[in-house]
Amino acid sequence: MKYFTMNNGVRIPVLGTGTNTFGKENGNFNGKVTYDTKELSSAIELGYRLIDTAIYYRNEAVIGKAVKESNVHRSDFFITSKIPADKAFTDTDEIVRHFVKQSLKEIDLDYIDLYLIHFPLESNEENLRVWRILETFVFQGLIKSIGVSNFNIDQLAYLIKHARIKPVLNQFQSFPGKHQQSLIDFCKDNHVIPEAYQSFAKLDAQIKDTLIELAKPYNKTWSQVILNYQVNEGLVVIPKSHNKQHQFENIDIFDFELSDKDRMTIKQMHVE
Ligand SMILES: NC(=O)c1ccc[n+]([C@@H]2O[C@H](COP(=O)([O-])OP(=O)(O)OC[C@H]3O[C@@H](n4cnc5c(N)ncnc54)[C@H](OP(=O)(O)O)[C@@H]3O)[C@@H](O)[C@H]2O)c1
Repeated sequence: MKYFTMNNGVRIPVLGTGTNTFGKENGNFNGKVTYDTKELSSAIELGYRLIDTAIYYRNEAVIGKAVKESNVHRSDFFITSKIPADKAFTDTDEIVRHFVKQSLKEIDLDYIDLYLIHFPLESNEENLRVWRILETFVFQGLIKSIGVSNFNIDQLAYLIKHARIKPVLNQFQSFPGKHQQSLIDFCKDNHVIPEAYQSFAKLDAQIKDTLIELAKPYNKTWSQVILNYQVNEGLVVIPKSHNKQHQFENIDIFDFELSDKDRMTIKQMHVE
């Protein structure tokens, strides 16, 4: 596995697994939580160490269970969770503290590697209020790093300016056709790691066809080309799959190099 070093000196795997439908009936986001760890266990066996969960996903306990069931040391994992922005989770400082403690209890792995604000709240001041509480968990050692998700440049800039602990990472939707290049550039200029979610899920059909052709000379798949491209652009990626073959493909992306021309073709892909 390759790693990036975040602005606090902590290393993060460049590739991990999404989990938003894992451990649930029929693999449905809204399905009943079954505590079945099969998808995660197969990902861990294949070498995935970064696991991306959230309070919203209701499966933090499934992640903790899979990690404990594995033969891999806790310190080799990198677990991310997130607090929702909704008032039910953030209305008062006490509520925020309650839900962060609840996350720690559900995951039950002594500490969480990275904790994100899942979506921006209604104002920059509100974001900062929740941020200040997350900072206290870092000071206590219960959370190692903190960051944000779905923040735009303005929201990120405000936080960077006012925070005691700078956000290490911003997780947002990014895929060929909708890279969000200016946000990626802003993150990199400010030493905040950009992390892509939904690298595949919203891909335009025509763009996918182009990527299938582009991948052929490398003996790789369109999905491997996307992940290789994103990692080389400095993004952490968190593809999710319920299929072991796809999980294997998605981690087998480090043995080829896209030509400058192909990289440029992907960079310029754009859908209105
Ligand atoms: N911060 C946020 O607001 C936010 C929002 C959305 C998602 N996320 C996070 O990002 C993660 C990834 O997003 P996502 O799960 O929505 O979408 P995704 O990873 O982009 O795509 C998942 C879909 O791609 C398919 N797939 C995966 N690997 C494949 C491969 N090698 N070949 C062909 N198809 C493949 C999967 O089907 P199979 O299962 O059949 O392989 C599944 O249908 C989530 O699980 C979650 O952890 C965060």
